[in-house]
Amino acid sequence: ARKRRYDIAVIAGDGIGLEVVPAALRCLELVALRHEFTLDLTEYPWGSAYFQAHGAMMPTTGLDELAKHDAIFLGAVGVPEIPDVETLWGLLIPIRRTFDQYINLRPVRTLPGIPARVVGAGDVDLVIVRENVEGEYSAVGGRIYVGEPHEAAMQEAVFTRRGVARAARFAAELATTRSNRLTSATKSNGIVHTMPFWDEVVADTLAGYPGVSVDKVLIDALAAKLVLDPAGFDVIVASNLFGDILSDLAGAIAGSIGVAPSGNLNPEKKHPSMFEPVHGSAPDIAGQGVANPVGQLWAGAMMLEHLGEPAAAADLTAAFEACLADGLRTRDLGGTASTAEFTDGVAARLTA
Ligand code: NAI
Ligand code: MG
Repeated sequence: ARKRRYDIAVIAGDGIGLEVVPAALRCLELVALRHEFTLDLTEYPWGSAYFQAHGAMMPTTGLDELAKHDAIFLGAVGVPEIPDVETLWGLLIPIRRTFDQYINLRPVRTLPGIPARVVGAGDVDLVIVRENVEGEYSAVGGRIYVGEPHEAAMQEAVFTRRGVARAARFAAELATTRSNRLTSATKSNGIVHTMPFWDEVVADTLAGYPGVSVDKVLIDALAAKLVLDPAGFDVIVASNLFGDILSDLAGAIAGSIGVAPSGNLNPEKKHPSMFEPVHGSAPDIAGQGVANPVGQLWAGAMMLEHLGEPAAAADLTAAFEACLADGLRTRDLGGTASTAEFTDGVAARLTA
């Protein structure tokens, strides 16, 4: 009998989410069987089709429903027919904020058979710790004189001591399990209120971690350094906006957007955390069966790790890495494998 059970809410969403989520679930079920635990999956048909039918991305009871689960496994949301602001603020952002998923964790690693896009980049192995619930992505602000020639818009960034400190603490803890090196992304020369505050709170927090060295780098210079020497970085802590941009940049350097995973974490596990690939719904290739399932699989491995199944997570990661090392590759990586063929390869390794 399998004693350990995890209750997972699954939102495949839109576009290729509907292809890569089933692919990843198939492999997750196999790895669970092998490691003798059970994944109780509840699938929620929310997203843009739900929006077309009901005028909202999820029912009003959606968040209460999700709150009951141990974790949320998400594909992607968004279709060309609906403004992205609806899909984002109707589903993703409410989930992140309601469940206090204040860390967005994005590992970036060179995978076998996927050459870095930057010549001479070496082996990249870094993690971006992005503050996920405040900062620049706030709803504070508005417009005045709408439609007038002198129309104006204001958008306030919100940084709290609690918010910055807990992101810095998470990053520092992570650094102690890695190389003890932390980079903090800032812009305290140009953004004169929030960013000096960020620097101050990061420094105060890191005083509690004498073994961890912190390098404070201006975001513009950091973007350039990341391109020139991605292997020179380990853990990077950044605000919501800076972390968003840096993680797409770092992901692109290391290979393809199709392989990058992310975890929206409530580290205290008071609320469910959410695991998703970095990519979106890719309407340009949706329905063709060619989407790369690696980002979704890797997000699944991060979920297992968070649930306390590190051996299963490592097994799953090793299985897709072995497929890549063997030259099994989807079109985005220059190969010819379909989503199904790649998934078959991973499944075969998990049942061998
Ligand atoms: P995207 O990530 O969906 O696609 C960008 C490019 O990468 C496309 O050419 C796509 O074909 C390719 N691509 C992405 N994932 C791939 C995979 N697994 N395998 C092979 N190729 C892959 O970003 P885009 O086009 O900017 O956005 C499309 C929609 O997705 C929009 O509605 C956007 O709002 C939404 N989106 C949703 C996210 C989420 O649900 N978390 C995140 C990013 C975008
Ligand atoms: Mg992004």
